[in-house]
Amino acid sequence: MALERSDYLSDVWREGIFNDKVVFCTGGNGTICSAQVRAMVHLGANACIVGRNVDKTESMAKSLMTARQGSEVLGIGSVDVRNAESLNQAVERCVKELGGIDFCIVGAAGNFLSPLSQLSANAFKSVIDIDVLGSYNTVKAVLPHLVKSASTSTSGPGGGRLVFVSATIHYTGAPLQTHAVVAKAGVDALSANVAIEYGPRGLTSNVIAPGPIAGTEGMERLGRSEDREANMKRIPAGRWGTVKEVADATVWLFSDAANFVNGSVVVVDGGAWRTNRMATGGKGMEYPDFLLGGGRVEGVKGLK
Ligand code: HXC
Repeated sequence: MALERSDYLSDVWREGIFNDKVVFCTGGNGTICSAQVRAMVHLGANACIVGRNVDKTESMAKSLMTARQGSEVLGIGSVDVRNAESLNQAVERCVKELGGIDFCIVGAAGNFLSPLSQLSANAFKSVIDIDVLGSYNTVKAVLPHLVKSASTSTSGPGGGRLVFVSATIHYTGAPLQTHAVVAKAGVDALSANVAIEYGPRGLTSNVIAPGPIAGTEGMERLGRSEDREANMKRIPAGRWGTVKEVADATVWLFSDAANFVNGSVVVVDGGAWRTNRMATGGKGMEYPDFLLGGGRVEGVKGLK
């Protein structure tokens, strides 16, 4: 189904504001990151997305290319963000084919639900490696190109910007997600440190923390439907967010309107985390029975 602009981008943004810019994105096959890239492409950017699966990544790139006639979107598969070498090669190819990198969306993440008691060291490490080491690998690979972009941009929004896609689960903690909670705290810290080390060189580094966003793998499949309904009632906005609302925040952070925004976290969650709602499977701050009992989890599927 062809997507309309109104599916992934507000009409407040002016066409062409990212003309001649290049955005590099990890996790670009995901629902949120693909919307972020689609919005950037619509507004003039060329893009490179990387993913583990070759067919999926190439077909997503083709789909993203339809957001604007004349835009180039490169899809590079067989890239695992845990492997620095595969990332470096993808970055080199992106620079060679698209001419540089001005913006980076650090979006690749892994998650599943597991009580701490059943979380193996290897399972914990897998998520830390994807989220934290993978973000570090991405940053290391793109930084020289972002620095170059920041020092040479003469028109349009200055280049040299990073947006990390994090979450809000680590603000309060989230049952069954020890691994992801620890990982997302690391991602936020990484962004903040890039902000202070590279701010003097013209870069900005910020985090977008999406809350419950409709249509994402993470939200649609978590918990029982009655829990989801109860949780939704606790969101001050009274609804889940849309990928378009995350894409809009991304466009803002990459635009000239956010030139002085560095080291920030933009929470896009309708106020949800401030209600202290359990992120998964909970009923407000009441603990789910399976946590109190310490038994095996029923009705909670992994996200693999
Ligand atoms: C418990 C699990 C598990 C599960 C895997 N493991 N799935 N443990 N419950 N459901 C354990 C395995 O048993 C193994 O430990 C270890 O994790 C590694 O598993 P592999 O399958 O070998 O790992 P790998 O192929 O590297 O896959 C990584 C993954 C996988 C994270 C486990 O789910 C993945 O690749 N996910 C990427 C896609 C994804 O998760 N998308 C959702 C992102 S949403 P042992 O001890 O047996 O060796 C998101 C939002 C966060 O991140 C915020 C949410 C609110």
